[in-house]
Order: sequence, then structure tokens, then C-alpha cells
Amino acid sequence: MNDKQAVVEMLNTDLRDEHAAVIQYLQHAYAIGEGEEACEIEAIAREEMRHFDWLAEAIVELGGKPDMERGEVDLSGSGPVEWMARDIIAEEKAITQYKEHIAAIDDPKIKRLLQRILSDEESHRDEFADLSDELAEEGAEALGPLEARSAEEAAPQVLDILQQGVHHEYTVILQYLYHNFVMPECEIGRELEMQAINEMQHLGWLAEEVAELGGHPDIERTALSLEGDTAQMLQADIEAERAVTRDYTRQLDEIEEEGLHKLLSRIRDHEIYHDELFSDLLAEVQAEEKKPEATAEPEVE
Ligand SMILES: [Fe+2]
Ligand SMILES: [Fe+2]
Ligand SMILES: [Fe+2]
Repeated sequence: MNDKQAVVEMLNTDLRDEHAAVIQYLQHAYAIGEGEEACEIEAIAREEMRHFDWLAEAIVELGGKPDMERGEVDLSGSGPVEWMARDIIAEEKAITQYKEHIAAIDDPKIKRLLQRILSDEESHRDEFADLSDELAEEGAEALGPLEARSAEEAAPQVLDILQQGVHHEYTVILQYLYHNFVMPECEIGRELEMQAINEMQHLGWLAEEVAELGGHPDIERTALSLEGDTAQMLQADIEAERAVTRDYTRQLDEIEEEGLHKLLSRIRDHEIYHDELFSDLLAEVQAEEKKPEATAEPEVE
């Protein structure tokens, strides 16, 4: 018999590593840019997001809290072939770790889940090996290390705006997912998850623009507002939406390029929608709280 705490800790280690894999693979996909290979890498990143989701749900079911910190992201290597080698290493580490955790955990349901994830990681490792061969054959050029490549020549102000957007989008993705995981009201949780998926789209759009301008998106987050009851969580999410709506609105004035202007204004409009949606949900929760309990004793004077 394992104690629950030990199992939660193992799953949280896996969760942090899935989180890191998502970011590492996305960075590689954005840097490689257009083409079939980048698409395939993004598809693998999406599968890692699914693993992240399953693990977080299993942690909550065990009475634990999903850890939203992430494991180590390896951005070393100076071009696509070297990056694929890093991704193969990440998969191999995951395979070893899942095997260890499967052996150490008794709970058949969790064993089954990890087994399911493990088989994905084994095919990912093979896919990355194939991708590496393809990229080598195509003579994918060395692009320089991911961390060091800045794009100062290309309108620093615009890059700054895009980069701030990347930080915001990444932060709210984590915040909304966490709120979804711990939220007792599953309908509100589902709504938050839907909007987190929309924020993932925003992150992708902005990060791709950064890459197109010759930069590397810096996928780091700002402060998360995680804890609280349902109303407090929704309030924090509304605040995040309002703050970014103000930022995007102000930044729209600074962007002249038409395509980028359209993109940012589309994202901004989504944020306004999120604000309204969350505000409606909050109003419902508050109305529910105000309703007198059917079983409440009449007040005695
Ligand atoms: Fe995974
Ligand atoms: Fe967004
Ligand atoms: Fe939003």
C-alpha cells in the first residue's frame, strides 16, 4: 500500500515534467517555423498537454494539489537536429520515470493511466528520432542557440508588446487550468478550461509572430492567483482579463503593421468576451450564495 501523499508527489513530478515538455517542444516548433515538422512537433506538445490534464485530475482526485511549477526546459542546441536530440532525451527520461512510478504505485487506476501515458512517450521518442532524420536530410540549418537569439533589428517595441502578450497568455492558461482542476462546480470548471484552450491559441499566435520577426518567444509566466473559493477564483480571472484588455487596447495604438494590428485586436476582443463570460458566472455564483438555505432555521430575535 502506498500512502496517498507519496503517490501525489510522484504524480506532481510527472506533472512538472509534462509541463516542461509542452514548453520545450513548443519552443522548438516555433523556432523551426513553417512546415510539416513543426506541425508534428506541435501535435506532440498537444499530447503532452493532455497528459498534463490527466495527471492534474488524478492528483485532485487523490486529494492533492496540482503543482503548477514546471520542470527543467532544455533550450540548448543550435539547430533543429540538436533540438530533436534534446527532445529524444526528454522522452527517454519520461519513459524511465513512468516505468519507475508504475512499479512503485499500487492503485490500479493510476497504474493504468501511467501505462497509457508511457505508451505515448514511447511513440513520441520514435517520432522525434524520425523527425531528426528528416530534418538532417533536408539540411535544416543551424539557427543558433534558442536563448541567445534576440531580434533587436526587428522593431523592438513590437517584439516587446508580443512578448508581454506571451507572458500574459501563458500565465492565464496555467491559472484557468488550475481553477478548472480544483473547482467544485464542474460546469464553471469546464467553461474555464474552454477559455484556457482559447488562451493557448493566443499564445500560439503571438509566439509565432515573435518567431517570424526573428526572435524567440520567452515563455515565462508572471504571478499566478490560484487559491480561493469559486467566487474569489472568478474574481482573480476577471481582474486578469481586465488588466490585459487595458494593455492590449493601449498597445494597439503603437502597432502600425496591419496584420499584426488585426491579430492583436482580435485577441483583445476575445479577452473582453472572457471578462463578460466570467462576470456572468460570478454573478450566478453570488446569486446562489445569497439564496436563503432551504433548511436554515428562522432567525430568533
Ligand atoms: Fe507526456
Ligand atoms: Fe488571451
Ligand atoms: Fe482571456
